[in-house]
Amino acid sequence: MKNIIITGGAGFIGSHVVRLFVNKYPDYHIINVDKLTYAGNLANLKDIENKPNYTFVKADICDFETIMGIFKKYKVDGVIHLAAESHVDRSIKDPFTFAQTNVMGTLSMLQAAKLTWESLPEKWEGKRFYHISTDEVYGALEMTDPEGIEPPFTTKASSGKHHLAYGSKFFTEDLKYMPHSPYSASKASSDHFVRAFHDTYGMPTIVTNCSNNYGPYQFPEKLIPLFINNIRHRKPLPVYGKGENVRDWLYVEDHARAIDLIFHKGTIAETYNIGGFNEWKNIDIIKVVINTVDRLLGRKEGEDMNLITYVTDRAGHDMRYAIDSRKLQRELGWEPSLQFEEGIEKTVRWYLDNQEWMDNITSGEYEKYYESMYANR
Ligand code: NAD
Ligand code: TYD
Repeated sequence: MKNIIITGGAGFIGSHVVRLFVNKYPDYHIINVDKLTYAGNLANLKDIENKPNYTFVKADICDFETIMGIFKKYKVDGVIHLAAESHVDRSIKDPFTFAQTNVMGTLSMLQAAKLTWESLPEKWEGKRFYHISTDEVYGALEMTDPEGIEPPFTTKASSGKHHLAYGSKFFTEDLKYMPHSPYSASKASSDHFVRAFHDTYGMPTIVTNCSNNYGPYQFPEKLIPLFINNIRHRKPLPVYGKGENVRDWLYVEDHARAIDLIFHKGTIAETYNIGGFNEWKNIDIIKVVINTVDRLLGRKEGEDMNLITYVTDRAGHDMRYAIDSRKLQRELGWEPSLQFEEGIEKTVRWYLDNQEWMDNITSGEYEKYYESMYANR
C-alpha cells in the first residue's frame, strides 16, 4: 500500500494523472489535494470519484498547517506535485498569485514532506517528491526557416508529414534557466526550491519539464480548447502577433504515462525533459483545428477560416519552444504514442461530444473574465 498525494488533481493534467493512477494501481491510495481555483473542476474526475482508493481533499497548498495535517493523517509516501497557476496571460496581469501559489505553495509542500519524512524511523526510504514543471523555464529558442533542418529525432509520433524543426537548438536538461514571463519565472523558482531540498536535506526529488499539453479537460483559456469552442460558436479566434510562434505539442495522456514511468523508474535528483517531438507554428495548428471542427460539425472544411483575427501580441511572447526528450527516450524507453493529427482529431471530438462540460465553464463568471481579458486587444 502506498499513499500518494497528487496536488492539482482537479486541473487539466492532474485529472489525467489521478485517473491513470487510481485505475492502474488499485493498491495505492491516491489523495487529490486541490484548492479548486477557477481551473480546478471535479467534473474532470466524475468517472473515478467513487473508487475506494481515491480521496479528494479541498485544500490550498500554501496553507502549511493544513498540508502538514494531510501528511500526518494519510501517512504519505509520495507526492506528485502539479498544483499551480498555469496560464501565462493571467501571470502578466497578476504576478503575485503566481509567486504565491507556484513558489510559496511548492515550498509549503516541500517543507511538510521534509518535516514528516525526517521524523520517521525509515526517513527518506521509499519516499519520493516529484515536481511537475514546464519547458518555459528555459526561455525562448531562436527561430529559422525549417527548410533543410532535419529534426535530430524521429519517433512513431513524429513520423507524419509534418516533422519540422524551426531551428537547430532544442531544450536539453543541462540548459541554463532563462524564464521570461511571470509564470515561467515562478515555475523556475519552484524548480530551484525542489532541487535545493534534495541538495540540502537529501530529499528524494525528481523534476520534469514538459512542453505544451493538449487534450480533453483543458481549461478553455488555453489555445486549443478556446479555439475549438470559439469555432463551434463562430466567435473570433484571437491570434497573437502574426501567429508565427512555435510550440512543441504533446497529447496529455502521453504526459501522464511519462509521469507514471518517471515516478516509478526515474533516478532521484535527475531532471527529465518531456516533449512531443512535434513543433508547430500557432497559425498552422489553428488551421488544422478549424478544418477538423468544421468537418466534424458537418460544415464545409475551412469554412471558418474567416474567424482568424490577428490581435496585439502577448507581452514578452516567447518565439519558440522545442524539447529534446531523448534522455527520457534513451533511459526509460518513453515516447509519445500519438501523431499530432490523431491527437487533434481525438481532442476535437472530445470537446464536441462534451459540450455540457464546456458550457458549464464558459457560462457565468468565466465569461466575464474572458470578455475583460480581450476587451482591449
Ligand atoms: P491547470 O491550471 O489546468 O490546473 C491547476 C490545478 O491546480 C487546478 O485544479 C487548481 O485548482 C489547482 N490549484 C491552483 N492553485 C492551487 C493552490 N494554491 N492549492 C491547491 N491547488 C491549487 O494546470 P495544468 O495545465 O493541468 O498544469 C498542471 C501542472 O503542469 C502545472 O504545474 C503546470 O505548470 C505544469 N505544466 C503544464 C503544461 C501545460 O501545457 N498545461 C505543460 C508543462 C507543465
Ligand atoms: P497557451 O495555450 O496559452 O500556452 P503557452 O502560452 O503556455 O504556450 O498558448 C499557446 C500559444 O498560442 C502561445 O504562443 C500563445 C498563442 N495564443 C494565441 O495566439 N491566442 C490565444 O488566444 C491564446 C490563448 C494563445
